Amino acid sequence: MVLSGKRILLIISGGIAAYKSLDLIRRLRERGAEVRPVMTAAAQEFVTPLAVGALSASHVFTDLFSREDEQDVGHIRLARHCDLVVVAPATADLMAKMANGHADDLASTVLIATDRPVLVAPAMNPKMWMHPATRRNRATLSGDGVRFVGPAAGEMAESGEAGEGRMAEPLEIVSAIEGLLGEPRPLAGKKAIVTSGPTHEPIDPVRYIANRSSGKQGHAIAAALARLGAEVTLVSGPVTIPDPAGVSVVRVERAEEMRDAVLAALPADVAVMVAAVADWRVASAAGNKIKKRPGEAPPPLQLAENPDILKTVGHHGARPKLVIGFAAETENVADNGRAKLERKGADYILANDVSPATGIMGGDRNRVKLIGREGSEDWPEMDKDEVAAKLAALIAAKLSA
Ligand SMILES: Cc1cc2nc3c(=O)[nH]c(=O)nc-3n(C[C@H](O)[C@H](O)[C@H](O)COP(=O)(O)O)c2cc1C
Repeated sequence: MVLSGKRILLIISGGIAAYKSLDLIRRLRERGAEVRPVMTAAAQEFVTPLAVGALSASHVFTDLFSREDEQDVGHIRLARHCDLVVVAPATADLMAKMANGHADDLASTVLIATDRPVLVAPAMNPKMWMHPATRRNRATLSGDGVRFVGPAAGEMAESGEAGEGRMAEPLEIVSAIEGLLGEPRPLAGKKAIVTSGPTHEPIDPVRYIANRSSGKQGHAIAAALARLGAEVTLVSGPVTIPDPAGVSVVRVERAEEMRDAVLAALPADVAVMVAAVADWRVASAAGNKIKKRPGEAPPPLQLAENPDILKTVGHHGARPKLVIGFAAETENVADNGRAKLERKGADYILANDVSPATGIMGGDRNRVKLIGREGSEDWPEMDKDEVAAKLAALIAAKLSA
């Protein structure tokens, strides 16, 4: 019984489907779960706290500024003392608040304060579900590590309205919860270091040398390792994507800072070096902005070699059991990847072709060749999330071998 003894924080927001959350509470309790309900003000227009309280056999939390519940900062306790947060139904409004980090009532405050996994069951009119704003919010939430169940297609409560937007049925939500809580965590107790993004190498206080790395692949790998239970330190260069859920992020700019942060995070069981670290930095960056002077030739840029972080880790006294690097190449991908494996002391290299035509650098998809000591393997083109999940599964298998 996956759900036996599990604590579920159920957030009910204000949609017609709120009546189904009563059945959901019943189904969860039948399976031995403890349900603590939070209701938004709008939810209480659809079902009563009395019914929710009676079915859950729990106090129903409705007010952020409740004098009784907040005596011991109850919203933080609620956010943390559970195995999973489930939002069912999730309105378009609550999804928008979650995606933008609002915290202006108990439900949204708990959702931003929680460090537990979050499962969302959206329910809304099909036009609301297909609206570009909701599409954007859903994508943002997925990127933040929020999981979704549904919505399904079908007839809506409003007559004449059909399409995608119906909340998943309570038993489907129960299965999704069981799937999430029963998910194997083979990397529990293991430490991982992941680097991600580009580095910025200053020329002067306002200019820098950079590359086109977005950090999407590295961040996805950090999130995938955390989902399998690893304690992850993500050392990230400057990126514009959000931090993945459940990992500690160390932000750096330059390659030398990235090396220092990686070495400070040792020892670890696995290091996955995904960042596109600049090979060179400007030998002596100017302290003040370099001025353009009429008639003068452009200033020469003297470059110095940056530390090789993958090689440093691959040959370190506290070398992780598994060291994995990425090789971004535009030609001879396999040969260059294999040479890199030897030179850097890595166990695996994931080589990818980052020629502009592939759209990989900065894009959402990736096609990699996994090069190991026993041989190599071509992975089909996949979303970067899928590459991350496949790599995390490989790491789990290797570390448990
Ligand atoms: C009769 C009625 C039904 C509604 N059904 C939904 C719904 O299914 N999904 C939704 O996103 N909003 C629905 N709304 C709108 C929400 O109740 C409204 O956006 C509210 O502000 C949501 O608040 P909350 O997100 O804090 O719960 C409905 C409103 C009414 C009046």
